[in-house]
Amino acid sequence: MNTAAVILALLSVLAATQACPDECDTIRVESWNYKYAEKVVQGVSYVVNMTVVDRQSEAACTLGESFGYQKATLWVDQGCRADFKFCFCHLPVRPTECQLLRVESWNYKYAEKMVTGAALFINMTVEDRQSAASCDLDKSFGFYNENSTVWVDNGCRADFNICYVQGASSTTTVNVSSWNYKYATKILPSSSCIYSMRVANQQSAAPCTLGSTYGFLANTMWVSDGCRADFSVSYYSV
Ligand SMILES: *[C@@H]1O[C@H](CO)[C@@H](O)[C@H](O)[C@H]1NC(C)=O
Ligand SMILES: *[C@@H]1O[C@H](CO)[C@@H](O)[C@H](O)[C@H]1NC(C)=O
Ligand SMILES: *[C@@H]1O[C@H](CO)[C@@H](O)[C@H](O)[C@H]1NC(C)=O
Ligand SMILES: *[C@@H]1O[C@H](CO)[C@@H](O)[C@H](O)[C@H]1NC(C)=O
Repeated sequence: MNTAAVILALLSVLAATQACPDECDTIRVESWNYKYAEKVVQGVSYVVNMTVVDRQSEAACTLGESFGYQKATLWVDQGCRADFKFCFCHLPVRPTECQLLRVESWNYKYAEKMVTGAALFINMTVEDRQSAASCDLDKSFGFYNENSTVWVDNGCRADFNICYVQGASSTTTVNVSSWNYKYATKILPSSSCIYSMRVANQQSAAPCTLGSTYGFLANTMWVSDGCRADFSVSYYSV
């Protein structure tokens, strides 16, 4: 999935009601012919854990190897087929706004525009295209959440309908360490909501893998199994 799709999936549930704590459910996910397969859980922002309830395959189901989760997606691989129990969270409600904005790529050149007050883009669609050149999301137009900017390229010129969460978006570096292989967390102010977290500088020999040894949930970052690193964390606050 591309970034835009991930954020769309993530935010399609922004209107959902509750923050953590969690609800749980059971679902069957199957890797046939040892192929990768996944299921996206509708109406959920983050899966927080996933365990095997009833394995149907001969092949083993091992977290991080033949099954796992990321955001609202549950995946299996290497022949693992099972019913899984998973627990999940919704994001809290945030005010959203939409506006029409003309953005134009002249002479097939890249151009961008800042959308003041946009903390996190939810979607961007072509309302009225003026160019002969086509406008395709992530190819000739798109957005950057880190600096509230929308862009066009390759001759795409159009009026776009742009929807976003109002507020400020920022990126910061945070040190989070799982000492003695213990689970540890670090928390940003409660008005923040993290939307991306990646390893900037790893200190541990133990791997740092998103969704299995580190992750985030609303305003909380977590690490486990010996992962220690500086993380680049992007979040919005309202
Ligand atoms: C999943 O996480 C929730 C909340 O943190 C916890 O209550 C629950 O026991 C966990 N379930 C499993 C199967 O680990
Ligand atoms: C874009 O997001 C807004 C706000 O969530 C929603 O009302 C609208 O239907 C969405 N548009 C598309 C094309 O997905
Ligand atoms: C916004 O961020 C993108 C990606 O990091 C970058 O390419 C672009 O130049 C930035 N634009 C502004 C106005 O800061
Ligand atoms: C994080 O901690 C490690 C080890 O304690 C240190 O080397 C690193 O400089 C720290 N990074 C930041 C951003 O504080």
